[in-house]
Amino acid sequence: MPLKVYIVFGTRPEAIKMAPVCHELLRDSKNFDVTICVTAQHREMLDQVLDIFGIIPDIDLNLMKSGQDLSEITTSILSEMRKLFKKNKPDLVLVHGDTTTSFATALAAFYEKIEIGHVEAGLRTYDIHAPYPEEFNRQIISKIANYHFAPTKTSQDNLVKEGVSKKNIFVTGNTVIDSLFWITKKSKNYIKSIEADISKKLNFDLLKSKYILITGHRRENFGDGFINICKSLTNLANNFSEINFVYPVHLNPNVQDPVKKYLSNVRNIFLIDPLEYEHFVHLLQNSYIVLTDSGGIQEEAPSFGKPVLVMREVTERPEAVKAGTVKLVGSNQSNIEKSISKLILDENEYKKMSLAHNPYGDGKSSSKIANVLKKKLVSTHV
Ligand code: UD1
Ligand code: UDP
Repeated sequence: MPLKVYIVFGTRPEAIKMAPVCHELLRDSKNFDVTICVTAQHREMLDQVLDIFGIIPDIDLNLMKSGQDLSEITTSILSEMRKLFKKNKPDLVLVHGDTTTSFATALAAFYEKIEIGHVEAGLRTYDIHAPYPEEFNRQIISKIANYHFAPTKTSQDNLVKEGVSKKNIFVTGNTVIDSLFWITKKSKNYIKSIEADISKKLNFDLLKSKYILITGHRRENFGDGFINICKSLTNLANNFSEINFVYPVHLNPNVQDPVKKYLSNVRNIFLIDPLEYEHFVHLLQNSYIVLTDSGGIQEEAPSFGKPVLVMREVTERPEAVKAGTVKLVGSNQSNIEKSISKLILDENEYKKMSLAHNPYGDGKSSSKIANVLKKKLVSTHV
């Protein structure tokens, strides 16, 4: 009998990183009976990814509410997953990373005594407030997961130090690299139309312009953090008037409000809606510098040799920092301005940070995860 696996996710980055796992397990219907369940903690931003990867969820809980708070999402997911797991008990639930969808789903599975596989396990800052609440979510999932798919040796070491048995940890690389390879290969055939689409949205020619790509959405930057970020972008845009600043703005109202208020009327700042993954990857690939607080972008940008300045005080992804392509600048206005200015004005600094480097995998992480599950579970399952 095939192993009954629920793959559960809810936000844009989880969808991007779980899509190759879905494809891999769905391909092997002899061994895996897969149910794809989305909480839709995100709606539009999740649907963009489902479309691109051709994933049709079996269950869509459609839970997103505008301006949702953490208790609200946690309780609604916990309660819906409880019902689902009671009704249709899977052998294994796969969750990803650090979102509230992953935390609440893992908790519901734990309460129903269902085994849990954690993809992208073992990333740590050991500061429970940064990233918030993601560091807490990750640590809790590690306490209750049965199988830990760690992207790197560093993340494996974190888990071992916390007492997770090495035999349940599998270093697989990060599935984001599988997705990155998949999307770049897929879009090769119609790259010109992608370029034209983006240029139209931006009102300038993507290939002829030097631009800094910006993204930001972290809860710990809400309020003063975002205001500082916006002020530094305004000053930089005024000081470097020949450079464009492109900012696909996350749909969270805590981000939309300050960003639109402070940046809407700056000539060379371009605020656009969140982009489809293949468009975003192309924008990233052609960018000059990346300024972000995103987790996934810290993993993707080094593949393209892009210098990345990260608006956080700490990161759970130290590998690219060690390699020299990622630098932490926090959300302090003058730090951001100084660091970007240095990269623009100092050619050596720019060159030092723009070496292509890929500490996060070889694009085969999802097949490694599927193989582990086959060996560990399918073989013992009757
Ligand atoms: C969530 C995750 C975070 C992840 C991020 C990726 C938690 C606690 N946070 O943060 O770890 O890095 O996603 O982007 O799990 N919204 C829309 N449409 C969408 C998506 C969001 O309108 O498609 C708006 C809604 O008003 C929603 C709000 O954004 O209430 C916040 O969404 P939420 O998932 O709670 O937080 P994120 O900041 O997106
Ligand atoms: N991304 C996207 N469109 C955008 C911005 C980002 O497809 O307009 C992708 C990006 O390539 C990366 C992921 O979304 O894979 C990162 O998501 P986000 O920054 O929202 O979350 P995090 O990684 O911080 O959890």
